[in-house]
Amino acid sequence: MTRLLLLNGPNLNLLGQREPHIYGAATLETVERRAAECAREAGCTLECFQSNAEHLLLERIHRAGTEGVGCLIFNPGAFTHTSIALRDAVLAVHLPLIEVHLSNPHAREPFRHQSYFSDIALGVISGFGALGYELAVRAAAQHLARAPHAG
Ligand code: DQA
Repeated sequence: MTRLLLLNGPNLNLLGQREPHIYGAATLETVERRAAECAREAGCTLECFQSNAEHLLLERIHRAGTEGVGCLIFNPGAFTHTSIALRDAVLAVHLPLIEVHLSNPHAREPFRHQSYFSDIALGVISGFGALGYELAVRAAAQHLARAPHAG
């Protein structure tokens, strides 16, 4: 069965209480549960991992490269705008990436306009709140069904 890995970066454990006017009222647990349901409907499995620590996200991505994960779905949080290390990790494992943001970073402060991931991603989904994760799961499943080994 196709395996998808959903990664969330720093502060996304606080979803539901963190600036709800920007990030919505759903908790990370709810977001992950809905995304996992979507994956099941699409015939995939979804594993979820959140960390506030860059090195733990790096290590999870490294492991994904050896575990038969088909696609990474990643909201790197503020690491989007800072982490060359996480970008390099994604490139190192040769896994397709879908970048997700709850908000639309381009409609926010200028420092959020730069992403170290967008140019290496299959696609970017932003501005649709928690729905973005479900859209990303569907996009990943369709991509892998069409080109299972293309990466
Ligand atoms: C975010 C956008 C980032 O700029 C911010 O640092 C986050 C969340 C989003 O999902 O909209 O932590 O990735």
